[in-house]
Amino acid sequence: MNFKEKYNEYLSAVEQGLAEYAAAMHFLPPVLTESMRYSLLAGGKRIRPVLFYAALDALGQDYLQEKELAVAIECIHTYSLIHDDLPAMDNDDFRRGKFSNHRVFGEANAILAGDALLSYAFDLLLRAAARDQRHLVAAQRLSHAAGAEGMIAGQSADLLYSGKEAGEKELLFIYENKTGRLISAPLEMAAVLADGNVEAAEAFGRNLGILFQLTDDILDEKGTDGRMGKTLGKDKIEDKLTCMKVFGMQKAEMLADEYVLKCRQAIADLTEQTDFFEGIVSLVRNRDH
Ligand code: IPE
Ligand code: IPE
Ligand code: MG
Ligand code: MG
Ligand code: MG
Repeated sequence: MNFKEKYNEYLSAVEQGLAEYAAAMHFLPPVLTESMRYSLLAGGKRIRPVLFYAALDALGQDYLQEKELAVAIECIHTYSLIHDDLPAMDNDDFRRGKFSNHRVFGEANAILAGDALLSYAFDLLLRAAARDQRHLVAAQRLSHAAGAEGMIAGQSADLLYSGKEAGEKELLFIYENKTGRLISAPLEMAAVLADGNVEAAEAFGRNLGILFQLTDDILDEKGTDGRMGKTLGKDKIEDKLTCMKVFGMQKAEMLADEYVLKCRQAIADLTEQTDFFEGIVSLVRNRDH
């Protein structure tokens, strides 16, 4: 099976899980369920749960047994996007090729849709954690990555350094936390569940997360709105602390290539089945969306 076929195999398992859990949501009033489903089922690359399934698979686990954790990962990511797009944060009108949540349901409902997806994810995490000790530790990896010592710390720093002069150290703090932790967590969770090399999973996740945000920032400047499904050029307008601001395009591209190499080294420590993960690294480096 080539890379694309493999990605699509994991992706369709992820989509099936999301559709199943979304269909079972009957929260009242109906606008709550609608707004949650709207963003959750709006598409997206699903790279985080795909990484989770791929790592489980590579480490010899039956990934279909971990559906609730995969759904929890994507619910937390989706909530982070809904809140990231709010007028008080990045003020973005488009997401995943559609109007952002608050443009459809209003700001207050979008805040609540995010809150509800986050809480729902914790419900799934608790259910998983009740299965055994490994699931508890895996669930904790995600809860730590999502919160004040992870993604939220990165988002807070992203706001703090907007419009300010800061350097590589602050940029890396933002990257590692706002993006890196939710990319790394699925890999760490798989390693925990499979009793694999958790440090290698962390190292790969950290480097892949940084690479992912480097290319996100690069594409904000040189991508096309149609492919990206969100309004581009916003980082410059908001004077965000990005790799473009700190390094400029040429150096940012070189840095991305350096992180490709760092990812490759870490993959080799994680698994012997390196092909799919090498493919993911190339996909992230060369993506146009
Ligand atoms: C966007 O994440 C937010 C960042 C961390 C840069 P993705 O680029 O994975 O968004 P979707 O899920 O594919 O829409
Ligand atoms: C978002 O980073 C990271 C999140 C935690 C959602 P960005 O603000 O750069 O993501 P986009 O460009 O809006 O997708
Ligand atoms: Mg943001
Ligand atoms: Mg944003
Ligand atoms: Mg961005």
